[in-house]
Amino acid sequence: MTDEKMNKFENIEELVKYISSDVKNIIVMTGAGISVSAGIPDFRTPGTGLYSQLEKYDLPYPEAIFSIDYFKKNPKPFYTLAKEIYPGNFCPTPTHYFIRLLEEKGLLLRNYTQNIDSLENEAGINKELIVAAHGNFDTASTIKGKHKINPEEVKTSIMEGEEGWKRMRQKYGELIKPDIVFFGEPLPYRFYELMKEDFVKCDLLIVIGTSLQVQPFASLINLVSEDTPRLLINREKVGNFYKYRDITLIKDCDTGVRELACSLGWSVELLSLIHISEPT
Ligand code: OAD
Repeated sequence: MTDEKMNKFENIEELVKYISSDVKNIIVMTGAGISVSAGIPDFRTPGTGLYSQLEKYDLPYPEAIFSIDYFKKNPKPFYTLAKEIYPGNFCPTPTHYFIRLLEEKGLLLRNYTQNIDSLENEAGINKELIVAAHGNFDTASTIKGKHKINPEEVKTSIMEGEEGWKRMRQKYGELIKPDIVFFGEPLPYRFYELMKEDFVKCDLLIVIGTSLQVQPFASLINLVSEDTPRLLINREKVGNFYKYRDITLIKDCDTGVRELACSLGWSVELLSLIHISEPT
């Protein structure tokens, strides 16, 4: 490894120079932290995270709410939660718009998201550039036969409460759920296919708002080549971001992306994208 590489990213300005001159294929990996300022809690932040607010469901452990085995035995907790978190009532955050700006600059190779809120779509990011690694509410299926069911029908039934989802189970002869990847289920085919092509091409990896606790998603950070720079923007340090090519912004992600946009001379463009989502 050359000294030049060793010293490449001692500070954010060095990274900004690299983005402005050499970068063509940015992969952004995101998690629940990027939707927190939209009003959607993350999962694992003690006190405010979803997993510390599930006492009322009387679960054996918090993640059971997204476990396929538990859902088969007791679907009520998930359906009750789903009613609260169904997409439609939330707006994208400055971080979502920063990712869209990367697309507009022709720099976004892919956004791998763990989020199930579909706010990437709401922010106008091209669907082809998004990998919803843990699925989302856009489609729905029967859990055994994997037959596709009209997502609007599923939404209406879940919104109706216990009567609604029980009637739906009766109609189809088995449980139906939105195509969110539960613990115990495989990730979408698209995740594995694109992962193979994308990470070898990546010349900057940006990881935002995730605890990197859930596999296989968390391991994606190790798929970029040894000298590909990796930027973490997160409230806490996570993963193995300590190598010479890594740089970390340990702070609120909206603040982090605004600072980065400012250093890149993109503040006005980012602001105008953010204003799209503001009520007139
Ligand atoms: P976590 O809740 O595990 O992690 C969120 C991370 O974002 C934490 O490190 C927080 O410190 C950080 N964070 C929170 N708010 C932030 C902010 N405003 N700015 C910057 N950082 C912030 O969420 P995920 O990593 O997304 O799976 O969780 C991964 C998976 O675990 C989820 O997809 C979900 C869950 O079980 C399924 O639903 C299948």
